[in-house]
Amino acid sequence: MNTPCEDGCCPSPASTVAEIRDHRQVAEGTFRVRLACPEIAAHAVPGQFVMVKLHGRDDPLLARPLAVYDTFSEGSHDPAGFDLIYTVHGRFTRALSREPAGTQLAVWGPLGNGFSPPPVEHLVLVAGGIGQTALLSLGKERLGVARYGNAPERKAPRARRVSFLWGARTAAAFGEAADFDSAGMETHLATIDGSTGLQGTVVDLLNARIASEPESYRPETAAIACCGPEPMMEAVAAWSEQRGIACQVSLETPMACGIGICFTCVAAVRDADGSWDYRRTCIEGPVFDAASLVWHPADHR
Ligand SMILES: Cc1cc2nc3c(=O)[nH]c(=O)nc-3n(C[C@H](O)[C@H](O)[C@H](O)COP(=O)(O)OP(=O)(O)OC[C@H]3O[C@@H](n4cnc5c(N)ncnc54)[C@H](O)[C@@H]3O)c2cc1C
Ligand code: FES
Repeated sequence: MNTPCEDGCCPSPASTVAEIRDHRQVAEGTFRVRLACPEIAAHAVPGQFVMVKLHGRDDPLLARPLAVYDTFSEGSHDPAGFDLIYTVHGRFTRALSREPAGTQLAVWGPLGNGFSPPPVEHLVLVAGGIGQTALLSLGKERLGVARYGNAPERKAPRARRVSFLWGARTAAAFGEAADFDSAGMETHLATIDGSTGLQGTVVDLLNARIASEPESYRPETAAIACCGPEPMMEAVAAWSEQRGIACQVSLETPMACGIGICFTCVAAVRDADGSWDYRRTCIEGPVFDAASLVWHPADHR
């Protein structure tokens, strides 16, 4: 059982203190941190995230959102905690990367809606950069090799195949790709510098895959779940829309509170009548149907 964070460093009354169990580098500038936190791990479903900060410290003041990469168990079947994978970007991730096992973090979650792609034979996970963190558990769940969340009514349809398409700048940026392979996913890589996999973007990779197996990328057989930098997700959304393939994207909008209070996280989302309005990605996202997003709202005023 974790203790609540009561030192006033978190905006959420539901925040809790979780200890780092393990912390290691897994790729260039990228770390995997394991947190003991059964409460959050028991509820987290694929695509959800947590807000994290260094417990009891006010630099940086605001927590940062990180996707729940996977849960882990110790002895019993109940999850004992969860793993996060992050790339060092700025103040928080730089500070976190220096913290050893035993350090306490303040966390709240799981937050957000999670993925819900339609039940299809072939689920295609498309990641750019660090976007794979939102996707591993979805692939494992759809293949039936793991189960997440403790809501009995939760439906987790199975896919016959899960492909994982991952694009990055260079080979050194890929870490823990074996997690996808060992779960039974078919991994395909692309790098901008050609150091491994296909040389090009993840959209080039999608073009290569559909050319080699068009039957597996039909609207009736395939759906896409995507996470990565926004321009990459916009390109994947356009690619899917052109082919009529269902696509969900998980936005990595900067967030301050994670619980709907501050409105720093808004994205422009289309309504059924064609008009659009801003929605908070921490509450109504971070996962949206790609077709509902207005990527450049200033052009649509
Ligand atoms: C739902 C969700 C899940 C996420 N999951 C992960 C994850 O699993 N692993 C991971 O490494 N990151 C993830 N992120 C992104 C992560 O929260 C940010 O990169 C965070 O700002 C890093 O904190 P920092 O203090 O190190 O960098 P900051 O000081 O906050 O930022 C450093 C620089 O990066 C820019 N920046 C920050 N966030 C973003 C962004 N989202 N898009 C574009 N530029 C940005 C800033 O403007 C600044 O220039 C996620 C974001 C969201 C919303
Ligand atoms: S992060 Fe505060 S409202 Fe979404």
